[in-house]
Amino acid sequence: MTIYGTDIYAEPEGDPDTLANLGPLRPMAGIWEGTKGFDQHPVLEGTEQDTFVEHYELHPIDRQTNGPQLFYGLRYHTHITKPGQSETFHDQVGYWLWEPKAQAVTLTLGIPRAQVLLASGPAAPDATDFTLTATVGSEVHGILSNPFLDRAFRTISYRIHVTTHDNGTWSYEEEGVLQIPGREEPFSHIDRNTLNRIAPPELNPLARAAVLSGRSDNTEVTLGIGSLRTTRPSL
Ligand code: HEM
Repeated sequence: MTIYGTDIYAEPEGDPDTLANLGPLRPMAGIWEGTKGFDQHPVLEGTEQDTFVEHYELHPIDRQTNGPQLFYGLRYHTHITKPGQSETFHDQVGYWLWEPKAQAVTLTLGIPRAQVLLASGPAAPDATDFTLTATVGSEVHGILSNPFLDRAFRTISYRIHVTTHDNGTWSYEEEGVLQIPGREEPFSHIDRNTLNRIAPPELNPLARAAVLSGRSDNTEVTLGIGSLRTTRPSL
């Protein structure tokens, strides 16, 4: 039970304004582009390194409770290509979650290799860098791979280090340690990139409803999120 006591049903109120409650994730909200990504992945002959281009979207969701446990979070999708190409090089979806009471960040990660993981780590509300980890076999912060991957490219651990910078950009460096049959040493699958903001985030549904209900003119209510962006450039 630890920090949440014994009542597993009582829910906290929470705040409808997710952007105001994202702790260390706040600087990451928005739409981002990074053109100088670095990837190191396994190939038959050993290791290959590539440059990649990334389009990363992170939008706030309404506060989420599990009984007394409260998260504020961002839903994300990142799409990666090689420079000048449109074919997908890597695709990834999930949630970045801030848990104020635990002072922790949790990442849910799903990729279309049929692989998912849950990584977590400690962070202060104003932290400008934090590290999350997941380990295969853990029943909480673990990694699940489809049977082929589990046999041929088994991810035994995952780590991501995020840094948010004073100039408004943010960076990540992640390492997936892969066990590959026939190789003596585990393989270090590394990816890193720095993201530059190209557009602000959308509002979470509750915050959006609050903004719209505050308007007297009904025609404006139908204008949609695009118009809210222009009226709230500081989001
Ligand atoms: C920027 C992010 C990433 C990029 C650009 C990337 C790219 C690649 C590439 C090019 C390969 C090898 C060739 C291929 O099969 O297509 C590969 C292999 C692999 N990646 Fe990633 N990857 C990224 C992140 C991840 C993440 C987050 C995971 C899961 C934790 C992951 C899991 C794997 C696995 C298990 C393999 C081995 C399977 C194989 O080679 O077919 N990758 N990655």
